[in-house]
Amino acid sequence: MRLILLGPPGAGKGTQARRLMQKYGLVQLATGDMLRAHIAADDDIGKRVKEIMASGQLVPDQLIVFMIAERISHPDCEKGFILDGFPRTVPQAEALDKMLADLDQKLDAVIKLKVDEGKLLKRIEGRFTCADCGASYHQEFHKPKVEGICDECGSDHFVVRPDDNPEKMKVRLTAFREQTAPILPYYEAKGILHSVDGMADIDAVSDAIDAILDKIAIST
Ligand code: AP5
Ligand code: MG
Repeated sequence: MRLILLGPPGAGKGTQARRLMQKYGLVQLATGDMLRAHIAADDDIGKRVKEIMASGQLVPDQLIVFMIAERISHPDCEKGFILDGFPRTVPQAEALDKMLADLDQKLDAVIKLKVDEGKLLKRIEGRFTCADCGASYHQEFHKPKVEGICDECGSDHFVVRPDDNPEKMKVRLTAFREQTAPILPYYEAKGILHSVDGMADIDAVSDAIDAILDKIAIST
């Protein structure tokens, strides 16, 4: 199964991608996480993208496409993957089609998380992430079961992203509206675009995604 989770910052892409990864054994390809790993490693890519990401703007298509093309050809992606945060521009969507055609693969679904943009800032401002395994939490909506301990790996080390503040959120939302939203008609025209209510609680969003995936499995 090859899926794209699409939605503005804070829509819940990462939260749902991790659940799908655990449930279906798919690989999560989260470009934001991949870029943050490059920044943490302080390598060439990390040095190039650090300031751009902190500003809330998108990094250049060429770099992202290179990164995904390399990753998607790994054997662990053969069974399927969830793209979280990619593609984010029309040229990225076109490049993905070409990559998949070269691998004789196709996308099964693009799932749009429909959200109320006015409420996303609260999600972003309350978010904290496990520094060791990347699991994402929220001070109000999704606390670890034991305070200060990651549910998934037991770590007590959490981080807050430098772009998770009101000023950068404005830039990120503008980037979504102007550069990412235009890819929706691209996938609608292919007949693979589905929409779920991303404002429902986390379990209800997962159930809605599962229902779409079940339907696709029945019809193929
Ligand atoms: P990226 O890391 O992809 O960030 P983003 O798209 O801004 O999305 P977020 O990770 O902030 O939100 P999310 O949808 O994953 O939400 P989450 O599940 O964490 O990209 C960062 C930057 O990298 C970009 O700005 C750009 O610079 C660069 N970049 C990355 N990919 C790129 C590309 N392809 N091209 C160019 N540049 C690229 O949830 C958010 C919070 O809400 C959490 O606290 C969570 O617990 C909570 N929550 C989740 N779901 C719910 C719910 N249903 N109800 C209540 N709370 C919820
Ligand atoms: Mg994310």
